[in-house]
Amino acid sequence: SNHVFIMAGGVGSRFWPKSRNNFPKQFIDILGIGKSLLQLTYNRFLRLCPPENIYIVTNAAYKTLVQEQLPGIPVENILCEPSRNNTAPCIAYATFKLAAADPDANMVVAPSDHFILYEDIFLENIKKGLETAEKQPYLITLGITPTRPDTGYGYIRYDRTGSEGVHKVLQFTEKPQLEKAKEFLASGEYVWNGGIFIWNVKTALQVFEKYTPDIFQLFEKGNTVYNTAAEQEFIDTEYPKSPNISIDYAIMEKADNVYTIPADFGWSDLGTWASLYEVAEKKEDNNVYGNASIHLENARNNIIHLPPGKLGVVKGLEDYIIVDDDNVLLIYPKSEEQKIKLITEKLKEQQ
Ligand code: GDD
Ligand code: MG
Repeated sequence: SNHVFIMAGGVGSRFWPKSRNNFPKQFIDILGIGKSLLQLTYNRFLRLCPPENIYIVTNAAYKTLVQEQLPGIPVENILCEPSRNNTAPCIAYATFKLAAADPDANMVVAPSDHFILYEDIFLENIKKGLETAEKQPYLITLGITPTRPDTGYGYIRYDRTGSEGVHKVLQFTEKPQLEKAKEFLASGEYVWNGGIFIWNVKTALQVFEKYTPDIFQLFEKGNTVYNTAAEQEFIDTEYPKSPNISIDYAIMEKADNVYTIPADFGWSDLGTWASLYEVAEKKEDNNVYGNASIHLENARNNIIHLPPGKLGVVKGLEDYIIVDDDNVLLIYPKSEEQKIKLITEKLKEQQ
């Protein structure tokens, strides 16, 4: 059977002022449409399988937040990590737990904080991945056509001669230096790793054992306790001992059975306000403001984020980010948004 694990334990910090106070990006209604990125992700996967087959893997600190935002998910499907050790142990925990319940299961591992415009295309490709993973011992990723030399992604070079849209990966390079990223982009031979992984639990266990034996052994010790009352106690004691490493470095860069399905479904990882502007619905004069109530005059290409119930009036402003959140009001040119991060560092005490 097919199972989905949504990873929601990261701390996104580039979306200030919405993302402060350790209230990470995935829990925020960043599009201003009344649903958080986590809720949108969950709803998307509900079209693939029932709530019982969907799990949220998160930090224990966010458990209540997850329960509030996803009341439909069984509470035992919220996996709570006691510490932040990145995605390799997060995925190992998910894999061992699922393997203990169903040793033949296929799994999808997905981030909780991405935007996807064309959900039908996305789901078709997920299904294709699951069908392949059922038959072949492959580690499958979805490959996104790159548009800029972004150093925050994994870059994948793949064999052009695949069958049915599934291609063997020749080289997986996680977060390359800018020079390399530029080379990769110019070559036209690379796709970005979309951060979504599809495989059979047997395949996953094999690669954990082969490439990260320390993580494998740590979680294997729990084989008798997964899905029992003793699971949480085992995780609370053992999980923090795991190496702190992402799945991309721990496995994807090393394994020789990685495959990719190149697919474009209007993907954005919503790293910054301007990247959100690019994908969000444009209203009159190309302004983006979700469901907020706004009165605009001679205002163009702005992205505006207001709390519910607040009325915004904007005149004579172009290409700006306007974010009103709690005790912070940000009014900043889109073209200089990379500097927002520096400002937040300077203003640390007030965040
Ligand atoms: N449960 C849990 N525990 N979730 C985590 C943890 C953790 O310790 N750390 C991160 N996550 C979650 C994040 O919330 C996010 O949804 C997802 O796992 C990916 O983590 P990021 O920290 O956002 O990874 P990244 O963006 O730097 O890189 C990954 O995604 C890129 C695409 O957006 C890599 O897979 C890249 O190769 C890929 O291109
Ligand atoms: Mg990310």
